Amino acid sequence: MRGARILGTGRALPPRVVTNAELTTLMDTSEEWIVQRTGIRERRFVEPGTGASDLGVTAARVAIERAGLTPKDIQFLVFATLSPDLFFPGAGVFVQEKLGLDTIGALDVRTQCTGFLYALSVAEAYVKSGFHDNVLVIGAEVQSTGLDMSTAGRDVSVIFGDGGGAVVVGPAEAGVGILSSHLHSEGKYARELMTEAPASAENPRISKEMLDARRHFGSMNGRSVFVHAVRRFPEAILEALSANGMAVSDLSIVIPHQANLRITQSVAKSLGIPPEKVFSNIEKYGNTTAASIPIALDECVSEGRIRSGDLVCLAAFGSGFTWASSLIRW
Ligand code: ACO
Repeated sequence: MRGARILGTGRALPPRVVTNAELTTLMDTSEEWIVQRTGIRERRFVEPGTGASDLGVTAARVAIERAGLTPKDIQFLVFATLSPDLFFPGAGVFVQEKLGLDTIGALDVRTQCTGFLYALSVAEAYVKSGFHDNVLVIGAEVQSTGLDMSTAGRDVSVIFGDGGGAVVVGPAEAGVGILSSHLHSEGKYARELMTEAPASAENPRISKEMLDARRHFGSMNGRSVFVHAVRRFPEAILEALSANGMAVSDLSIVIPHQANLRITQSVAKSLGIPPEKVFSNIEKYGNTTAASIPIALDECVSEGRIRSGDLVCLAAFGSGFTWASSLIRW
């Protein structure tokens, strides 16, 4: 079987910077609380009228160009998001239209913080098997329109931001590029981190009562998320290394989903990975869920922090609960 590698990366961050100080004018919180608990100093919010597909399209244009390709070369696309433009259809079809792609398959992935890695694994399998040559993988989120900006929602709202990232996956020699992907889920924790409404099990799916009860905003059991994240992130990284006969000391860099700086620091410590080998940009963008890994990957590539031959581990944990990893020989 042939290999599959990332041919190009891109990112899209809305220009509007929202500082912690701005949040303190909307809810009872403080710069100290946010920085101490999360490491976040600012995040980006879109202007009204921008959907996840718009950020995805901007990032995808860059990724396709950096891959040395044109939109006509893309044979399939996978879009990971928890904030699609509409309840249905998925965000992928808007990308197909806005980029002027052929009438290719467009698949949406709904695994939240691990969405990009699930989507990347689809591209990896399709390219390795020869089913498709060039697959576009996008992770993009507009969180800002779904946050409770009152004090009642402060535990969740201070964490999240908007953004998009994209990669193009194409053929490579066997043993180069994406070496393996590892995906997990544990649905008994589905309600620990969720947005309940609109819900198909409710009739109507959304009502004034549900809005009044703020069930259309995300909710999180922060303690549970923390406990499971600091266990599953290391497991996922070690699983990817073990599957390829490698050790932590072989890693050039780990790019974790940017959940929370304290989670990232705890993972690095428990695996004995020096902090400079664990990438973090949550200070600037907050938690952008499915977009955080492709944004971080694009920053690393652009800044020369990843070079040819490096061993890169991508890892994520999030709502579901789901967790995943991908090991890449760059
Ligand atoms: N500003 C000020 N105070 C706040 C805020 C805020 N934004 N949010 C919550 N608080 C208050 C709470 O109301 C609570 O007050 P109380 O003690 O008067 O009730 C207090 O701060 C403590 O909040 P907790 O978060 O419950 O703190 P706890 O001591 O239980 O710490 C922990 C738990 C581990 C710090 C946890 O909250 C945490 O950080 N979890 C990680 C969650 C996370 O980062 N998720 C990322 C998104 S999910 C993902 O990507 C995987």
